Amino acid sequence: TRPLKVALLGCGVVGSQVVRLMTTHADDLAARIGAPLELAGVAVRRPDRVRDGIDPSLVTTDAEGLVTRGDIDVVVEVIGGVEPARTLIGRAFEHGAGVVTANKALLAQDGPALHAAAAEHGADLYYEAAVAGAIPLLRPLRESLAGDKVNRVLGIVNGTTNFILDRMESTGAGYGEALDEATALGYAEADPTADVEGFDAAAKAAILAGIAFHTRVRLDDVHREGIAEVTAADIASARRMGCTVKLLAICERAEDGRSVTARVHPAMIPLSHPLASVKGAYNAVFVEADSAGRLMFYGPGAGGAPTASAVLGDLVAVCRNKLGGGRGPGESAYSRLPVSPMGEV
Ligand code: HSE
Repeated sequence: TRPLKVALLGCGVVGSQVVRLMTTHADDLAARIGAPLELAGVAVRRPDRVRDGIDPSLVTTDAEGLVTRGDIDVVVEVIGGVEPARTLIGRAFEHGAGVVTANKALLAQDGPALHAAAAEHGADLYYEAAVAGAIPLLRPLRESLAGDKVNRVLGIVNGTTNFILDRMESTGAGYGEALDEATALGYAEADPTADVEGFDAAAKAAILAGIAFHTRVRLDDVHREGIAEVTAADIASARRMGCTVKLLAICERAEDGRSVTARVHPAMIPLSHPLASVKGAYNAVFVEADSAGRLMFYGPGAGGAPTASAVLGDLVAVCRNKLGGGRGPGESAYSRLPVSPMGEV
């Protein structure tokens, strides 16, 4: 069987782990897919920063040239940010490639247009890694719960802020020191403002709400408050009340069922609540559905290897579809429930 060619866009914390997994698990991946994977190229902005273990002959600064060369089966986009990722993904579809991306900012801004472009070219678009790192969450919402009615999705979806709040509480570390540690561990975004101001969590809330309620929710629809204003004194007073402070993403269907809301803000959580024991860069998300009841998804929500695990799962899915002639899920927005500006907090 001919190898399936993979183009990797971005080779930072996540991308380098994608290469590692593709290399070390090559035989298992080939067996699961039914054909070997070939890393056809790695596009980066700064070739001098590419980590050891990556064949220098595969490295290019010409991302556009890589995705349009015509023989690429799957493009894995882990650059982040809206541009140039959006243009490159569009070009990938035009050239017949499926796309795996971890790009929550792009999906929260332009998800419907991306899905439409994928559909137009009969291509796949998968993005499990965009929300909650390693935790399988989008696929269960989209597939396992497809026969149920989801009413609420609530939880911790940003590892960096959870790590910072946790460190401030448990070690008394200052905000800046905790943020530096999160960055060094590869949890934070390239610009950590996206984490601490809640943009990252809001993008994830938009994606979750769109899939859970089969509607369209954009970043701008999500009420957003980050953790920059949370002080050590706030955390101490929460503690005195038997609570801890967490940054929550809350997506809800209105009681009359006619609209949805999505919001992100710091919240006091009683220490007896399972979310209170989510530490470090872990994420935890509750999904409440009519028939399934209350489900909890828990695990590493950030970091290179956990995020790469989700990317690889999607890569296997796209490759299986390619070989089997199937297609992955399209946009699930059929109800078009309106998004209310803000639910009750
Ligand atoms: N910066 C993100 C976080 C990475 O801290 O959760 C995972 O999306």
